[in-house]
Formats: sequence, C-alpha cells, structure tokens
Amino acid sequence: MQHKIEIVQTLLEALPYIRKFRDEIVVVKYGGSAQESDELKEKFAQDIVLLHTVGMKPVIVHGGGKKITGLLGDLGIETRFIAGQRVTTREVMRIAEMVLSGEINREIVALLNSQGARAIGLSGKDGNFMEALPKDSENYGYTGVIETIRPEIVTNILDDGFVPVIAPIASGGSLGHPGFNINADLAASRIAVALGARKILFLTDTPGVLNAEGELIGRLSIEQTRRLKEEETIHGGMVPKVDACIEALRGGVKKAHIIDGRVEHSLLLEILTSSGIGTCIEL
Ligand SMILES: Nc1ncnc2c1ncn2[C@@H]1O[C@H](COP(=O)(O)OP(=O)(O)OP(=O)(O)O)[C@@H](O)[C@H]1O
Ligand SMILES: [Mg+2]
Repeated sequence: MQHKIEIVQTLLEALPYIRKFRDEIVVVKYGGSAQESDELKEKFAQDIVLLHTVGMKPVIVHGGGKKITGLLGDLGIETRFIAGQRVTTREVMRIAEMVLSGEINREIVALLNSQGARAIGLSGKDGNFMEALPKDSENYGYTGVIETIRPEIVTNILDDGFVPVIAPIASGGSLGHPGFNINADLAASRIAVALGARKILFLTDTPGVLNAEGELIGRLSIEQTRRLKEEETIHGGMVPKVDACIEALRGGVKKAHIIDGRVEHSLLLEILTSSGIGTCIEL
C-alpha cells in the first residue's frame, strides 16, 4: 500500500511541471558520452516518449565525438581539438558525417520508434535547415559556425506530431561543398533559440559542472562560468557546453541545465520533479 501511495505522490508531483511545459519546445542535447549502454539508451528513449505523450515537444540534437574519434583512429587519421572543438579536415568531415548522419542519427531514430515515438532524423543539410560559415578555416577546417537556421522545417515536423532528431552537420551552401561539422552543444543552443524553446538540457557523462575539487556545482552564474574557464577548471568539451547554455539563455530560453546522462531517467528527474539534478546555468 505504502508503495502505491508513493507512486501516486510521484505522479502528483509531476503534474505542475506537465502543465507548465505543455506545448513547449524542450531541446535535449544527447551527448555522445551519454550514449554508452543499451539499457541507458532505452531509458532515454522512454523518457522522450513520455515527455512527448504528456504534450511537450522534445527536439533532440545529438553529438558523437567519441565515435568519430574511434573511427578516425581505426582509419589511422589523427584527431585534434582546440578549446573543445574538433579540427575538421576534408577527410575528417567525411567521417564525421558518416558517423553522425549515417550511424548515430539512424540509431536514435530507430530507438525512439521502438519505444513508440514517431521520430524523424535530419541534419542541417535537409531542406537547408542549417547553413554555416567556417569558424576559422585556417585552424579548424570545416568546423563551422551556424549562420542561418530555418526553424519552420522543424516546427512543421513538431506540429505533425513527430520527434525531430538532428545531426549537427550544416550545409555549406554551394554545390560540391562537403558541409560543416558543428559542435553539437552550439548547434543545440542555436536551434533552441531559433525555435523559441522554453528549456534546454545537455545530457553528458559527468554529474554536471564540477569545481576544482571535483564537486558538483548546482547553480552557476555567467561570471562564475567565466572565472572557471579562465582558471581551466572548465576545459575541453565542457567549454562549448557552458558557452551554449549562456547563448541559449541570452537568446530567450528560460532554463539551461547540464545533467548526467549516465543516471537512469535523468531527463524525467530534471523536468518532472522538484528535486532537479546537475548544474543549472543562470543569467
Ligand atoms: N569543470 C568540468 N566539469 C565537468 N566536466 C568537465 C569539466 N571540464 C571539462 N570537463 C569534461 O567535459 C566532458 C564532457 O564533454 P564531451 O564533449 O566530452 O561530452 P559530450 O558533449 O556530452 O559528448 P559529444 O561531444 O559527443 O556530444 C566531461 O567528460 C569532462 O571530461
Ligand atoms: Mg561535446
């Protein structure tokens, strides 16, 4: 009996959040680092299906850094990062697109569909959804900065009741251009702003942003973020992630969270309970 009461209490606790986020767009950056085990992937898909079923509009933007690096290694191609962003030669671009659009995107779409969602995969090249310019072609090659987003492509998909799953590849505009590799965190924040999303969540492989002692920082201001970056407590892949949170907030997204994708149902815990987990970045 006690157990049943707890179930009901949990459902009641979720109610105000379900009401608050009904019809709202929630962007979820699904980090490559959070896509480790089959069990976790299945729980992630269940969470998305539940959020969609109660009336939210989840939009998934995925990464795939580890898999790209893995395949490059198998092929004997060197991997280089500058400040958490990949250096993308023409060869790396080909592999990145194969892994992101060809493998990971398809896998997430199949996973969501298997749990009862109707997911549609796309990259920035579809319908020219995202166009980019080089970040700094001399140093970064085909790593791009998003120049234009056509939100109607994704809002149409959402309005038809589908769950969009977006690979962070942008169109290069001209014929024969291989396109651009976009850091998935920065793609997610730009997409969230362009869609007028209410919330953005980054699922990754740490409990959130950690301080120099390795402890979780629950709330983080822009000023603190700047300091932590300066002293390199925030480094590597966490740099574009905190930058993306700040960009999303400045663009009108109300909440930005970095949460642990290795914790089962972390998405539901963050969105539908009062506990909240991970790091919340604030303006
Ligand atoms: N202060 C910090 N707190 C927590 N993690 C940090 C910090 N500074 C750097 N990191 C690193 O950032 C990493 C997360 O970024 P990473 O780019 O590796 O993953 P992701 O963005 O989730 O995946 P993908 O890049 O495939 O989308 C952590 O695994 C950790 O090593
Ligand atoms: Mg990353």
